[in-house]
Amino acid sequence: MTIDNSSSAESALRSLFGGHVDISCLVDEQKMGRRISGVDLTQPLKKEQAQLLVELLDAFSILSFSCQNQHNFRVRHLERLANYFGAPIPHPKNYANYMAYQRGEAPLMAKPIAEQTATLCSSAFPNEITCLDDADSPAVYIVNNLVNSGRDKQEQIASGLHWHTDIEFEPIPLSTSMFYVHLVPNRREHNGNWVPNKLPDAGFYHPDSDDELTERRLALPLNGETAYADTAAALKDLPEQQRQKLENTMIRRRLKASDEGWLVPLVHTNPRNGVKSLHSPVWASRGKNIAPAQVEGLSQEDSRLFLDDLEKHTLDPKYRYDHVHQEGDVTIWSNLSTLHNAPPAKRVINSTADARLMYRISCKGEPRNELPRRDTAQWLNSNVTPPYRTPAEFFAN
Ligand SMILES: [Fe+2]
Repeated sequence: MTIDNSSSAESALRSLFGGHVDISCLVDEQKMGRRISGVDLTQPLKKEQAQLLVELLDAFSILSFSCQNQHNFRVRHLERLANYFGAPIPHPKNYANYMAYQRGEAPLMAKPIAEQTATLCSSAFPNEITCLDDADSPAVYIVNNLVNSGRDKQEQIASGLHWHTDIEFEPIPLSTSMFYVHLVPNRREHNGNWVPNKLPDAGFYHPDSDDELTERRLALPLNGETAYADTAAALKDLPEQQRQKLENTMIRRRLKASDEGWLVPLVHTNPRNGVKSLHSPVWASRGKNIAPAQVEGLSQEDSRLFLDDLEKHTLDPKYRYDHVHQEGDVTIWSNLSTLHNAPPAKRVINSTADARLMYRISCKGEPRNELPRRDTAQWLNSNVTPPYRTPAEFFAN
């Protein structure tokens, strides 16, 4: 049975996970995103269950599993879940010398415990906020506003970031990202919102960007939500002739402007359900940090104009969805059919009511419905830096 609506998803979920499971739309039946309740992700998945969750993500692009048991849920459960969707990618911040290792100057070293993000987060409000005790896995990136925070600190607010797709600039791009939500801010002292819409500094986006594009880029949620845009729906709505042209468009992606880079299709076709989507239709998704994408056959300036048009179309409010995080949620999204953005947020806080703490794991490669994954050493060496496999004990009950 093809799963393409909430009703078929509900039947499939209940037959594999039990009659108590519910699925509902995050927005409405026509839009991406579903919330699933009643699935306990501390338990390993059976083969058919894992396959179903991959199918559901393929169909709906964002899945949010509510009410994971906060006493039992650990980051290792998130990492085990990630393995069904792809090979987890270690995060550079977890290493003491990642850049020197990348340049071939030194063997890789883990960060000392005292300098790890989890340790720094737990020291902001001692005895009040403590990171999960297994948050130090190399695969975990801790999204937080606790490092450098504390009762005696001056509050600081950061603007939103660029619209982007996680790690779109590698030959095999990242496919899936997921959060486990530990803490969300609950103060609303700025006109009913958590923060004011602090705009980025001049030069954050290209100065010649179209006004409407700029307006859409800067229309971000103000309560710590993650902003998403549906690149499959955006592509589907374009006229047939334009879609065909885009399907034949190749893009050169590179990490640094001096890299030769590689050509990849702008349109991704999901091999499992055939759905086509724009893959990161953004000219400069990380400002100056990642080299801008270049459309094959176009100059850099024409590439910007071409991709800015697509970004503007994709950021049309009808393709947008701001995801409200709730403590205990596991939220998974496809990077191949969405764009996302980190919202304006308090980055230094002096009250625990402002704490925003989530554990993120990202992965790439083919989904697997049985663990451990069987990625070859050669594939890991070529596509995961540093090469990393989730420890075998994560797959024990
Ligand atoms: Fe991201």
